[in-house]
Amino acid sequence: MAAYDYETHTYDAIVVGAGGAGLRATLGLAEQGLRTACITKVFPTRSHTVAAQGGIAASLGNMGPDSWQWHMFDTVKGSDYLGDTDAMEYLAREAPKAVYELEHYGVPFSRTEEGKIYQRPFGGHTTQFGEGPAVQRTCAAADRTGHAILHTLYGQSLKQKAEFYIEYFALDLIMSDDGVCQGVIAWKLDDGTMHVFNAKMVVLATGGYGRAYFSATSAHTCTGDGGGMVARQGLPLQDMEFVQFHPTGIYGAGCLITEGARGEGGYLTNSEGERFMERYAPNYKDLAPRDYVSRCMTMEIREGRGVGANGDHIHLNLNHLPKEALAERLPGISESAKIFAGVDVTKEPIPVLPTVHYNMGGIPTNYHGEVLNPTAANPTAIVPGLMAVGEAGCASVHGANRLGSNSLIDLVVFGRAAAIRAGHVVDRKAANPTLNKASVDASFGRFDRLRHAKGNVG
Ligand code: FUM
Repeated sequence: MAAYDYETHTYDAIVVGAGGAGLRATLGLAEQGLRTACITKVFPTRSHTVAAQGGIAASLGNMGPDSWQWHMFDTVKGSDYLGDTDAMEYLAREAPKAVYELEHYGVPFSRTEEGKIYQRPFGGHTTQFGEGPAVQRTCAAADRTGHAILHTLYGQSLKQKAEFYIEYFALDLIMSDDGVCQGVIAWKLDDGTMHVFNAKMVVLATGGYGRAYFSATSAHTCTGDGGGMVARQGLPLQDMEFVQFHPTGIYGAGCLITEGARGEGGYLTNSEGERFMERYAPNYKDLAPRDYVSRCMTMEIREGRGVGANGDHIHLNLNHLPKEALAERLPGISESAKIFAGVDVTKEPIPVLPTVHYNMGGIPTNYHGEVLNPTAANPTAIVPGLMAVGEAGCASVHGANRLGSNSLIDLVVFGRAAAIRAGHVVDRKAANPTLNKASVDASFGRFDRLRHAKGNVG
């Protein structure tokens, strides 16, 4: 193997990934005075969170009665009762605080007439423990909520003097022989140099693996890098089979049309012009949970009621909504429909199809973000020095199915939780670990083998 020169960087904490979870963790770590760096393979504000449209769930109760208990109930039920209820309770309880924090950091939320944060209905969010009407719980910045959050958190992280290594591709974890994470190895993409990051805490915030599928709403960068790094160390992943389909990806292109479009009054029709969700879910109709809506759409298509020349998709209708409402609340998807489907939403329906959208599974963690490596003797054993947050992690807050707008809130609640935990467990005065040379060499060896491989897969 060729020898690789490398530069070493030393920090208290390293965050890998600069989406919503990564930036919230970076900001929280830096605010507590930890020497913090964030490594990201794309410019922070191009991370996939920028594509999150409809909003962020929190029981603020700005548009009618709501409570964190109702939010928790909906999350538990939406997960098909397969999630971790401690994590779900933490999410629902902390959500309002996390959203108000975002507001104070400067996120430009849309407003009600009285100046409160605007909230819209989203699938599966209800009142009275599922017995009452749908609730408006999803806080929105038009249909560009992720964009607004990402820009705000990046600015705040810079203000707190967090350092950014931009267009650095993290390759592998560095692990001690006794299983402590000591840092990561990264490849600087513009000049090909190698970098070793020595840290007392590594936080993986590398996003999901939607791009394992042919068509996904995820950016092409969503390639499960963190899960790969963890699996290569022989550590477990969990719930990898729980992959969510969003009902309204643009037919052919896969780009997301937010559930907020149905929250604002949009509805689905089949080839007979029928609002078929009224038949499947008489109460919540088009705002039933997204896994259910996706299944209903697929059944309509399979039973011969799909639209288009091949009867293989469904129509999303928005053209009955006032033009001003579309321009104010849904400007982004109006533009996407024009660009990717050639459709003017004020006049025609958008052709849509259920499309891979979210990975509920990932790197197992507790609700502080600490990575788990359970053994028979200790089912809650953690991997010292390693955390995972956001779509890369799996505190199992979404079980087998995530409710819409519970992703952005997961990012900020658990990004923040990980920072708080790291603030308690990282000893600022201690020396950084002496790196395990064998672990560093193993990573360079793997890199070198791939680089010189002759096959078409490597
Ligand atoms: O439909 C959407 O805006 C997606 C939101 C989400 O996945 O949470």
